[in-house]
Amino acid sequence: MAARFNTSLHNALSLLNPFNTPLNTKPFSSRNSFRLSKKLPYYLQSSSTNRALYCTSSSQENGVDGAETFVLTTPLYYVNAPPHMGSAYTTIAADSIARFQRLLGKKVIFITGTDEHGEKIATSAAANGRNPAEHCDIISQSYRSLWKDLDIAYDKFIRTTDPKHEAIVKEFYSRVFANGDIYRADYEGLYCVNCEEYKDEKELLENNCCPVHQMPCVARKEDNYFFALSKYQKPLEDILSQNPRFVQPSYRLNEVQSWIKSGLRDFSISRALVDWGIPVPDDDKQTIYVWFDALLGYISALTDDNEQQSLETAVSLGWPASVHLIGKDILRFHAVYWPAMLMSAGLNLPKMVFGHGFLTKDGLKMGKSLGNTLEPFELVQKFGPDAVRYFFLREVEFGNDGDYSEDRFIKIVNAHLANTIGNLLNRTLGLLKKNCESTLVVDSTIAAEENPLKDTVEKLVKKARTNYENLSLSSACEAVLEIGNAGNTYMDQRAPWFLFKQGGVSAEAAAKDLVIILEVMRIIAVALSPIAPCLSLRIYSQLGYSLDQFNSITWNDTKWGGLKGGQVMEQASPVFARIELNPEEEKKKPKASKKTGKVEVKVEQPQTVAEA
Ligand code: MSP
Repeated sequence: MAARFNTSLHNALSLLNPFNTPLNTKPFSSRNSFRLSKKLPYYLQSSSTNRALYCTSSSQENGVDGAETFVLTTPLYYVNAPPHMGSAYTTIAADSIARFQRLLGKKVIFITGTDEHGEKIATSAAANGRNPAEHCDIISQSYRSLWKDLDIAYDKFIRTTDPKHEAIVKEFYSRVFANGDIYRADYEGLYCVNCEEYKDEKELLENNCCPVHQMPCVARKEDNYFFALSKYQKPLEDILSQNPRFVQPSYRLNEVQSWIKSGLRDFSISRALVDWGIPVPDDDKQTIYVWFDALLGYISALTDDNEQQSLETAVSLGWPASVHLIGKDILRFHAVYWPAMLMSAGLNLPKMVFGHGFLTKDGLKMGKSLGNTLEPFELVQKFGPDAVRYFFLREVEFGNDGDYSEDRFIKIVNAHLANTIGNLLNRTLGLLKKNCESTLVVDSTIAAEENPLKDTVEKLVKKARTNYENLSLSSACEAVLEIGNAGNTYMDQRAPWFLFKQGGVSAEAAAKDLVIILEVMRIIAVALSPIAPCLSLRIYSQLGYSLDQFNSITWNDTKWGGLKGGQVMEQASPVFARIELNPEEEKKKPKASKKTGKVEVKVEQPQTVAEA
């Protein structure tokens, strides 16, 4: 069935309210990020003006204490079902980026939350025998608990059913309406409830199946309000060609550019048949389309509950976002719809939209709708947060898809975290206890004078930093691991256990070697802290530092020279317990358990943060 507009009504309304004639557009004070012009709408002005969209607003350059503000968002997750590993993936990546930016001394606002309106949520609430509000409370809470288990340190958690969010959505809608970009028309088309989106027939599979959810789309006919996306075709083209970094990785930019080039069609932003949503201002027979509602969460999240809820206040608290981190399936909403909506409302655009790939199972996107998910609560329970965080960030090149296998998981975390990092610390502290009463004999700077290992580590730290900055998280992990490899090679070449036995000058040199290796461990702990914060804390504690000292580290602490002579180290105890396969299961390998499809494993849980 072809999607079609009731064009006569469309045209009539267009004539009443021509696209390029903003209505009642009220300018805001220059203190905030709004860019409005009395003559042309700002997005139609010269390219030099367009560039202003990407300038950091004053509130961003000077957050509290004069620190630069970095605003990072995850998508707001649908509460149709509890989180799965695919939803956790974006949040783990975002948390690591946020932690890295905090290490750089920036004031970070890390926003996450839940998307709670719309047909999909109302249907899943009913299927669970709950009213929608009760259902949203339960599922939203399960997201919060998973984030706690995974050590996710978000700053703001927005729920789209929060009254403060509703106020912002209504104000935004009214601004877009006042700008002449909303009109009423009939629409007939094929709808994917799981995507909450009308689909183009040509993008569907056999039997009108949605390619993402592999389920048939349903025919719908509605009288809705529409957003005049087509009007923003040229401004969007200009923005993308002038700011190619707006969409990352670069191969996703090509995708977005080709969508735009193929022609943008207005989209419906209200639903007549859905009650569970925010009523359209001045027409409570319709609710606002879930995407037109949820995207505003990135702005409403910025306000505090006790503040006056207005777009102006919210924007002044940190808009525009520095990075929207999303999965590639929702790129069109973030890189096409959202910028156009913001332009219409006279707001700055986010500085970057980064679309990562999918975690897949048997080549298919892992997801709630397909029911092929990996249970993140179970995974964290079994292996701890550091292993889960490290594995997915190290294994999947950020931007690409990646398949999960438990065998691979165990292999990677054992080799990298237990052996390369954990074992090196353990061996070194053991030798220090035996030969130096667990005390460093000299400052690490003095110990490493003219030692090439120091240069190697410095180069790798730089590499890790560049990769973190470019959101190349897997390469950042790799650079940190290379530091560990360099430390292990040094240990093996120098063989301090042998030098101690020789005594005299050799033993003195061996004592210095231990200082050098422990300094390497300290630097690893700092550089790995965005990825595996608990593990880093455990390393730091064993090096004789307090929790407060760990909490105040910055990226500057990756400089060589932190460990001082006389510092007393803790007793060695494994910072990362090796995952051991049950002997029974080892025999059966590689056959997985019939019941769970997984290899049964036994793992000694490492200490928790509080215990470390
Ligand atoms: N509610 C919308 C987002 C609104 S943002 C204003 C939504 N929610 S979702 O729960 O379906 O998906 C949230 C995010 O999880 C998306 O970025 C999606 O790509 C990501 N993932 C869901 N399954 C995934 C994988 N299997 N792998 C990686 N990420 C995936 O869309």
